[in-house]
Amino acid sequence: MPDSLIAQIPPQELAERLDQGEPLQVLDVRAPEKVAAGHVALGSALDFRAMPNSKLLGLSSLDPVGLDRTRPVAVICNRGNSSKQSTAFLRERGYEAFSVTGGMAAWEQVYVARPLVPTPSLAHVVQLDRLGKGALSYILVSDGDALVVDPGRHLDRYDSALADLGATPVAVVDTHMHADYLSGARAAADRWQVPYFVHQDDAVSPYDGAPGRFAHQPLSDGDTIAFGRAALRAVHVPGHTLGSVALLADDGLALTGDFLFVRSIGRPDLGGQPDAWARLLWQSLERVRREWSGDLLVLPGHYANEEERRADRVVAARFDVIAATNQAARIQDQSAFLAWVAGHQVTPPEAYRTIKQANLGLLDVSDSDADVLESGPNQCAVR
Ligand SMILES: [Fe+2]
Repeated sequence: MPDSLIAQIPPQELAERLDQGEPLQVLDVRAPEKVAAGHVALGSALDFRAMPNSKLLGLSSLDPVGLDRTRPVAVICNRGNSSKQSTAFLRERGYEAFSVTGGMAAWEQVYVARPLVPTPSLAHVVQLDRLGKGALSYILVSDGDALVVDPGRHLDRYDSALADLGATPVAVVDTHMHADYLSGARAAADRWQVPYFVHQDDAVSPYDGAPGRFAHQPLSDGDTIAFGRAALRAVHVPGHTLGSVALLADDGLALTGDFLFVRSIGRPDLGGQPDAWARLLWQSLERVRREWSGDLLVLPGHYANEEERRADRVVAARFDVIAATNQAARIQDQSAFLAWVAGHQVTPPEAYRTIKQANLGLLDVSDSDADVLESGPNQCAVR
């Protein structure tokens, strides 16, 4: 069958259907080690199976795959090529199969926008969920002015979300210098002609102190970024990086970046000084436990799995719930905390150093290199 006639499903449509809880089957036909490094894991009713394309095509019966013939199957591979073969193979055997257009490379570029309840000064609070990475960025709108926090590099997603909201971007912020994805903040500041805010301690390389090569406005503890009728207050919470900040809005929302997640905390070992940074992280946690009220809604920079979502699919939780249930943030004793962190350390992905250098403007990365560097879900949390 010619490739053009093979039934396909665009990754965005697959994401939206899984997100709505449709019991779709996803068959991943990549090599097992690639599947192990990260795969489609979305929705409450997802039925996920994996079998390499070469093995699948050699089967005389499809029984070992365990697919349900009465439900659609989305077949996914690396770039949407070999999945077409598997899809044709399944269709010839009576399955309603679809090849996921562009494969995992395209899946990792899908963003789903989820609106939250407005606050007194923010007419719109939108969480942009980059599913393949478990990475969350935000658009906050007040009186038509928008602040964009932790954008990924696919700026067209932000442009269309801003257009839908009828909002004009006035500033872009990184809560910290990212290691797991290429920040879109510098390019956004350029494209929108707006300031880029980042803490000064994250504007230098943590590896050798080399100053980053990019224009920015330093953001310090207690600074506010005013836009529309809103003012975001920066709280310096070092540990995951030296310059990590949380951003507070209306004393009701806390955008915590990679400092604090719903179920974990940002790993302190990415700068090569795990013990010193773990101590900083402890102090940051102590500080917010003293200063933040329990009803503050924490909006993190990442999640690891579906359990971190609320019923409305947003990844968020009240600070008092996190303080009571988060495996790291509920530890009340410094030495127990440090021991817990030390006991959960795994080697960071090699790409993280390169990504951080690129985010600092210290090296250039092509789009195809970026796809490879960013591939797989984030490993920013202590697990
Ligand atoms: Fe991260």
